[in-house]
Amino acid sequence: MYAVIISTPGGPEVLQWTEVDDPVPSAGEVLVDVVAAGVNRADLLQRAGFYDPPPGASPYPGMEVSGRIAKLGPEVEGWSVGDEVCALITGGGYAERVVVPVGQLLPVPAGLTLIEAAAMPEVACTVWSMLTDTAGMHSGQTLLVHGGGSGIGTFAIQYARAIGVRVLTTARERKHPVLRDLGADVTIDYTGQDFVAEVDRATGGTGVDLVLDIQGGPYLQRNVDCLSPGGKVVIIGLQGGRAGNVNLGGLLAKRGTIVAGALRSRSEADKAQIVAGVRAEVWPLLERGAVKPIVDRSLPMSRSVTAHEVVTASDHIGKVLLVTDSEWHRRAQ
Ligand SMILES: NC(=O)c1ccc[n+]([C@@H]2O[C@H](COP(=O)([O-])OP(=O)(O)OC[C@H]3O[C@@H](n4cnc5c(N)ncnc54)[C@H](OP(=O)(O)O)[C@@H]3O)[C@@H](O)[C@H]2O)c1
Repeated sequence: MYAVIISTPGGPEVLQWTEVDDPVPSAGEVLVDVVAAGVNRADLLQRAGFYDPPPGASPYPGMEVSGRIAKLGPEVEGWSVGDEVCALITGGGYAERVVVPVGQLLPVPAGLTLIEAAAMPEVACTVWSMLTDTAGMHSGQTLLVHGGGSGIGTFAIQYARAIGVRVLTTARERKHPVLRDLGADVTIDYTGQDFVAEVDRATGGTGVDLVLDIQGGPYLQRNVDCLSPGGKVVIIGLQGGRAGNVNLGGLLAKRGTIVAGALRSRSEADKAQIVAGVRAEVWPLLERGAVKPIVDRSLPMSRSVTAHEVVTASDHIGKVLLVTDSEWHRRAQ
């Protein structure tokens, strides 16, 4: 099969569409013929040599795919060859075939194309696991989403809105109209506005119940400053830096919580539990159109260099997808 390999750590140009050995499914795994793979910011870090895949994972980038089951490994029940699926994976999605533990398979939500389905597993599993499962987000709350134009952000805005949560979001101004269409009540341009002051104004001085943060260190104190009493800062990214200072007096006075987590390094059992939660609570929202896949663009997988350049420049809103070249050419005919 062909896969995108990281020839050496570096810029987008180190990605190479190359012939490699097919993976073989073990017990409890299936082999999927990939149709599309989502590009995630973590793939850029992996390519640059700053985010190695966990032990045992495929060395090729790609943490989510859609496609058709090509083969069942031993002891697999409940799935059949030919089933159309999407999946959360630990690596290896930028390839024509990938093995997936059955607990990480999801059916393609009704109403989505097989290609669109590749946009959903990583964002849905990350946001559901951190905001719903970990932080207990519920109807009537207020949420600040940093980076609303990201793959994660465009999903978080829609999902929170769909379950009755008021959403404020930060993004560069040109992305604001799209984010308001997705359900953001308040859009803040983090390049020219003080988001703490804007949150204060928009909430009448109360603050937000939850902050979904992707910046890390430099935003830590300001995120705590945005919280209402009992509020929670949920950190899922460290784009601005790993280290930060916080005035614990302020956190204590608010009875605030700071929680952080990464999906990729969680156990297979944890991922299966998260995927089951997403199937039960997020898939129905997709199937009734309350949440939609936001796909900025799709490119053939052999053009992963361009895809990484687009995401590096943050030119996109939502997700960038890579479609396997055979599927790309089949659809072009
Ligand atoms: N913990 C986990 O398990 C997990 C899983 C998935 C993703 N993540 C993290 O979630 C984040 C989003 O991932 P993604 O793949 O969806 O990313 P993405 O589509 O590449 O988007 C990155 C976003 O960061 C925004 N941004 C840059 N500087 C910012 C700032 N100072 N304040 C607010 N926003 C800023 C950009 O917005 P503008 O274009 O408006 O500047 C852009 O929309 C990444 O940090 C990723 O590592 C974590």
